[in-house]
Amino acid sequence: MESAEIRRRWLSFFEERGHTVVPSASLIADDPTLLLVPAGMVPFKPYFLGEVKPPAPRVTSVQKCVRTPDIEEVGKTTRHGTFFQMCGNFSFGDYFKEGAIEFAWAALTNSVADGGFGLDPERLWITVYLDDDEAEQIWREKIGVPAERIQRLGKKDNFWSMGVPGPCGPCSEINYDRGPEFGVEGGPAVNDERYVEIWNLVFMQYERGAGDGKEDFPILGDLPSQNIDTGLGLERLAMILQGVQNMYETDTLRVVMDKATELTGVRYGAEHGSDVSLRVVADHIRTSVMLIGDGVTPGNEGRGYVLRRIMRRAIRNMRLMGATGPVVRELVDVVVDTMGLQYPELITDRKRIETVALAEEAAFLKALKGGTNILDTAVTETKAAGGKVLAGDKAFLLHDTWGFPIDLTLEMAAEQGLAVDEDGFRRLMKEQRERAKADAKAKKTGHADLSAYREVADNSGVTEFTGYTSNEGESKIVGLLVDGVPSPAASEGDEVEVVLDRTPFYAEGGGQLADQGRIRLATGAVIQIRDVQQPVPGVSVHKGSVQVGEVTVGASAFAAIDNSRRRAIARAHSATHLTHQALRDALGPTAAQALSLIH
Ligand code: ALA
Repeated sequence: MESAEIRRRWLSFFEERGHTVVPSASLIADDPTLLLVPAGMVPFKPYFLGEVKPPAPRVTSVQKCVRTPDIEEVGKTTRHGTFFQMCGNFSFGDYFKEGAIEFAWAALTNSVADGGFGLDPERLWITVYLDDDEAEQIWREKIGVPAERIQRLGKKDNFWSMGVPGPCGPCSEINYDRGPEFGVEGGPAVNDERYVEIWNLVFMQYERGAGDGKEDFPILGDLPSQNIDTGLGLERLAMILQGVQNMYETDTLRVVMDKATELTGVRYGAEHGSDVSLRVVADHIRTSVMLIGDGVTPGNEGRGYVLRRIMRRAIRNMRLMGATGPVVRELVDVVVDTMGLQYPELITDRKRIETVALAEEAAFLKALKGGTNILDTAVTETKAAGGKVLAGDKAFLLHDTWGFPIDLTLEMAAEQGLAVDEDGFRRLMKEQRERAKADAKAKKTGHADLSAYREVADNSGVTEFTGYTSNEGESKIVGLLVDGVPSPAASEGDEVEVVLDRTPFYAEGGGQLADQGRIRLATGAVIQIRDVQQPVPGVSVHKGSVQVGEVTVGASAFAAIDNSRRRAIARAHSATHLTHQALRDALGPTAAQALSLIH
């Protein structure tokens, strides 16, 4: 069964069962805690948290996802990919464990003629969370899975969260036994290569706070309702249904590997090293196309760096296989042709995607030349001094001036018999990043724990915005935080966050900066406001410092924005749109506008 058919079949299975079909969101997450969308549930996070009312109680989607923590594993194992599509069905306070389990079982085991995926039920193994007796009972009694094919696993495997504060819950995974040729028996608790996880059912019912890793975080409390979030890896199911050995041999990636063999003359299956390179190229070029398609451009920070790194790894692997000239255009075209069946916007956007990818290839080939000279000199000097380790500042220089990803420096240094001081490199990178972020951080403070703001929203509702028609007006203080902690009062010199029942202050959004200004109390107290954000949709949080007097919750206030600043921003904002329109008129609709700082 082809990937496009898996996707179509998934959506119609759930549509027939009362789910609203939602298209994939962009890979660029609309969430300050994430760089890229790593799971199907991301666009629905506000519904799980109860911040926004869901458009329907049941939805289904096939979401584009990118995850890069395991980038080094790509090509070496059978199932690690940086881009994948997560098929999901979601319930917001509608069905819970029993419904989710019954749907999943039917989708996987119903015959193909009957709209399912026709998997052999005997090959399916189930895991549940340590103390989740209820889930185990449903699997055994309602579905009839024998007890010996149900295993209990701990928090690391069977408790899911996004890795950051937000919704979470215990989960139950469905694993497929690929057979004895893939290793020893004993179920997924013993062997995850043979018993490959295909579907994760998350019983989303708690909210977690900040913490490290997958296991060490506090549970802040229950979500407003019990929900379902599931994720089935489309590529993994394709691997099974297409009867191939690994993910890279499925229909949408195989064609990219074929193109890479054509361009390099290397044969797939001939040798382990080049097989890994072919798989890396296929995976990374596809991810690059999907990222560029969603508007990411290569750079040295954030998403841009994710893209730069994977593009450069792909090009470098092509060169390891013997390619000498440019290769990117042909590889990109194959991806656009194949993925375009599911994402037609890639075809319309082909020219722009090619242009961005080719520019990065040209820059990298040039950097390879310049960087290789620097590297060679540094290697010679290090060796002459009797050293075995290339200094961290050299690796940093190569990264900063020539855009060498660290793994490229590691590889090239190793080819000449040297290690690299990676710790030193990372320390310098961290220092640089901290410098760049200090400013942005001071402004937005991360908003990691939103519970305080949500409490204000629960008690006082959303903020009424009056700023389209007036620059100042009467209001009341309904929420107050001092140094990030809810407080009844604040005094002179305190850093505060103030929520008003109504406000003329525009909160940063839609590419427009927040207003600045003053809030005066009848008592004579004055708060100077420098920034306004909406950490929770609809709740405007005014950040500033108390200049004079005492501020208390419940006090009447008079809020006034700095009007000439607002008007200057509005003019600049309009000018940006007009310039953009002029560029589109001259260059066509692909002239995209992003990242203008309008202040
Ligand atoms: N959100 C769950 C996952 O990503 C389904 O595994």
